[in-house]
Amino acid sequence: MAILGLAPSSTPTKPAHFDIEKVIRPNILALHPYRCARDDYQEGILLDANENALGHSIASSSPSDPSLSASLDQDLHRYPDPSHPLIKSRIAALRGLPGPEYIFLGVGSDEVIDLLMRVCVKPGGEKILITPPTYGMYAVCAQVNDVGVVKCSLELGGEHGEGGERGRFSVRLEEMKKAIDADPSIKLIFLCSPGNPTGTLIPLSTVRALLEYESFKGIVVVDEAYIDFAGEDSSAAALVSEYANVCVMQTLSKSFGLAAIRLGIALAQPALIQILSNTKAPYNIGTPTALLAQAALAPTSIDAMREKVGTLVRLRGVLLEALAAPELRALGVGSAIGGNDANFVMVPILSRETGEPDNARAQRVYKVLAEEEGVVVRFRGNEPGCLACLRITVGSEQETRTVLERLKALLSKI
Ligand SMILES: Cc1ncc(COP(=O)(O)O)c(C=O)c1O
Repeated sequence: MAILGLAPSSTPTKPAHFDIEKVIRPNILALHPYRCARDDYQEGILLDANENALGHSIASSSPSDPSLSASLDQDLHRYPDPSHPLIKSRIAALRGLPGPEYIFLGVGSDEVIDLLMRVCVKPGGEKILITPPTYGMYAVCAQVNDVGVVKCSLELGGEHGEGGERGRFSVRLEEMKKAIDADPSIKLIFLCSPGNPTGTLIPLSTVRALLEYESFKGIVVVDEAYIDFAGEDSSAAALVSEYANVCVMQTLSKSFGLAAIRLGIALAQPALIQILSNTKAPYNIGTPTALLAQAALAPTSIDAMREKVGTLVRLRGVLLEALAAPELRALGVGSAIGGNDANFVMVPILSRETGEPDNARAQRVYKVLAEEEGVVVRFRGNEPGCLACLRITVGSEQETRTVLERLKALLSKI
């Protein structure tokens, strides 16, 4: 069966053991997507979509709020463009992909996660594979969709190995292969690189090994929400042109500093992108989001994003160094764990008596820090391999100074 909207191609796809038509649910393959007149005609007297011809009714902006007035100048009474070719072309150029047909846009990566499950994994029987500790939405979304979850935890013990390939929080490839062999109903593997909450980048050689593993007929999803904070050439986007069974998720929420606009991205070969586009709600990306995303992806904005990422990476170093200084060590801050490849760090809080990770103390630090010191971090002590850990986002220079001061003051009291 042909994928609706996809131009036929005679080029064989790699790897040979992957057939997208066997991964996508039959009801989705057979779907005739919603079509509107705007797919064919975008100009003229537009009387096709039951919009409000008189425009929006938001009271004219007050002079004290110029930002609102710019927003109100947009064509808010019209449905947005359903396809956003310019945004997609800019993303393709940024990530080194051939063109817009390799890009899907979602309402945050969270929508992409949900959509991938809905198109690939049959409720009530089929499964996804995740590698705890990992981003919580994979399991939440699986539950919402009545999809099973197989867990193959990351390596939980020990220190880092070279290049993050071995040691704590590395992917246990052989265990994953065993899990795949044992359960042919696994359709999607979710890898998070750099991981949340681990901060550890997954080497491309590991991703490639899963893509090449013949027994796995499904799709490897690599969630790269934090990729711009990691070193150059670490993105699995480099594998997308080569492999039909990889889907890389990225977002404007982190490095681009645009969490409010909700723009998530899937990078994959055109067949999967077409399936996602056929299935999405017709106008998922609103006009204000699209205009801001387009501006954020212009060359000068990308330069500014890179500069900010550079600053945050430097501040990550400052934070890590201060957390490792003798003063905080003496108060019970343990060595940072994980790869520190993202815009956060994870540190265990130790018992002052035993020097061992102390979950109760960490939880108390988390609570008092938020309620009495006005600094909110994340307690991750109940995640596998993260006993007594706090995850601290890298803040501004001033915020970094403040969190360190307040943590120090607090740890000397509790
Ligand atoms: C690993 C990971 N993936 C995805 C997301 C969600 O991204 P978005 O804001 O694009 O929905 C987050 C947010 O914290 C995350 O940590």
